[in-house]
Amino acid sequence: MQTSLPVQADFPLRTLNTFGISALAHAYLAVHAADDLFRVCADDRLAALPRLVLGGGSNLLFTRDFPGLVLHMLNTGKRVSGEDASHVYVTGAAGENWHEFVRWTLENGWGGLENLSLIPGTVGAAPVQNIGAYGAELKDYFHSLLAFDFETGKTRLFTAADCCFAYRESFFKQDGAGRFVILEVTFALPGQWQPNLSYPDVAEALSNAGHVVPSPKDISDVIIAIRQRKLPDPALVGNAGSFFKNPTVSRALFDELKVAHPHMPGYVQPDGSVRIAAGWLIDQCGWKGKTHGNAGVCETQALVLINRGEATGEEVVRLSEAIRQDVRDRFGLLLDVEPVFI
Ligand code: EPU
Repeated sequence: MQTSLPVQADFPLRTLNTFGISALAHAYLAVHAADDLFRVCADDRLAALPRLVLGGGSNLLFTRDFPGLVLHMLNTGKRVSGEDASHVYVTGAAGENWHEFVRWTLENGWGGLENLSLIPGTVGAAPVQNIGAYGAELKDYFHSLLAFDFETGKTRLFTAADCCFAYRESFFKQDGAGRFVILEVTFALPGQWQPNLSYPDVAEALSNAGHVVPSPKDISDVIIAIRQRKLPDPALVGNAGSFFKNPTVSRALFDELKVAHPHMPGYVQPDGSVRIAAGWLIDQCGWKGKTHGNAGVCETQALVLINRGEATGEEVVRLSEAIRQDVRDRFGLLLDVEPVFI
């Protein structure tokens, strides 16, 4: 079947990934509506290609050209999709910018997403790695999402349980990768909002700013300031946020590590396990601010790897391997990477 879709060949992806890595897509399609996906699915030649769903490109690392079809989600729209005694339900199209969506909810007076302010990326990509920051995770406010299924050619509604959310993980980063394309996401925002001040930096910044009873927007504003201070702006310095996940260990192992390293930061999880700050581990190994070829480690947050200009994906991978090796040798801990490698 001949397609009338405006698919482009050998499409450059450098400006479509926040790491700023050069790579080509064998085929590229800007997706503006669900109908575009139905048409891809009905086209035997396009449907047979490997697929990469691209949102803001803020959690991936290109290590090669992509030999298939990039579906760039550019559908927009946000709306109130329901309301009951306890919640307001808001829905955002996959291609909406995440931070603008968060600010829209706050401007309308609905609290909930403020701790997730200024995270790069899109609404559709946010559930894929269950974005999280400052004591909150997307799953805490998630209601449901609508995705297109390339196996059935139909849309499917996913509940939170279907998404298998975990720390920086979901079904869509694992078994569902390539098969499902998220079209829109619905959040349940609480009618009775309570501030989440579990993260000491946030509580301190609010108190310094003189906010005794902070509003959701006050919290968003201090989080924006903290992020701008600590994390490099991808518009200026190529990066994909945290490059590694914070490793989770048993309480017994953490207590053992604390004997040798009394300052090691660890956060006890609801199940009793402890999440160790990978940024601290990397920093202790002396990597902060270091450069390896064209790749480097951020000066203000060792968990973030950066593109110092013309880095290739392989250079970033080599740097990350050297860091993993050092952390393993010094602390006996294995670091898992957070971005998806292509
Ligand atoms: N630390 C250092 N040196 C560093 C970096 C951190 O000693 O170079 C120490 C800090 O002093 C602090 C601890 O490590 O005691 C934790 O640091 P931070 O508060 O900056 O948070 P993080 O655990 O390094 C996580 C998320 C971030 C999120 C922040 C805030 C992961 C992998 N990363 O970082 O998420 O913004 O908490 O909640 O969980 C992202 O996922 O891309 C991301 C930026």
